[in-house]
Amino acid sequence: MSNCIAIDGPAASGKSTIAKRIAEKLNIAYINTGSLYRAVALAALRAGRDLASIDRGFLDTLQLEYAKDAAGGYELKLNGAFPGPALRTPEVAAGASLVATRPIVRDYLLDVQRGFAGERMVVMEGRDIGTVIFPDAAFKFFVTATPEERARRRLAQDGEAADGATLAEVAREIAARDKQDSERSVAPLKPAADAAVIDTTGLSIDEAVDTIIGRMTRQQEEK
Ligand code: CDP
Ligand code: CDP
Repeated sequence: MSNCIAIDGPAASGKSTIAKRIAEKLNIAYINTGSLYRAVALAALRAGRDLASIDRGFLDTLQLEYAKDAAGGYELKLNGAFPGPALRTPEVAAGASLVATRPIVRDYLLDVQRGFAGERMVVMEGRDIGTVIFPDAAFKFFVTATPEERARRRLAQDGEAADGATLAEVAREIAARDKQDSERSVAPLKPAADAAVIDTTGLSIDEAVDTIIGRMTRQQEEK
């Protein structure tokens, strides 16, 4: 069994926030795997590459590593630098979802993700952690919320960075990504058969975190 707490789910469901809090409470590492797909898209956009035809040669030019940032958490470095807000633009989000449909990209990033976790206990958050990256994860959660609530959360989160985007635009961007992520043939977004589905629509962040920690505690007691 892998020492991984897998947290998967659709965009803006609260995965990163919840995963980070759980890692802090348990004093273990937290890894956001979406940033890997975002970094591949960002690098390809910067290089003027066609996102739909990224090949192994291009991937081999990238240097991707998780390193401790100023706040002491692990963040992704692309070619030796923390990309910062450049990873969070709507263009990069859409590009990430596109490159994530390519088996060559997923295969390449699978090794990076497994290599990071190794023996240590880690909270890993993404789309396919419980289904593909660590199918034998010790704990698996699928965090979700209604599309309306997720659009509302993303708009509130991005604030000015959203470039004056309306709720309807954010909802459309999220719906397009949900569709592409769920319908792709490799590692589609779906709950693992043995994942606990946590609908956070009516929950605060604290309530969602407490629900997950409570379930982990019960699961351990039942062993
Ligand atoms: O990682 P993911 O895209 O799934 O979501 P996130 O970036 O963790 O959360 C999106 C926004 O929703 C953040 O601003 C969170 O603070 C907020 N949120 C919330 O309002 N209520 C929750 N239960 C979870 C997250
Ligand atoms: O934060 P948010 O939920 O909006 O997105 P993210 O977690 O940063 O992921 C960006 C995109 O990367 C997703 O829309 C997926 O297409 C892809 N992704 C993936 O395919 N597998 C993962 N484990 C993580 C992200």
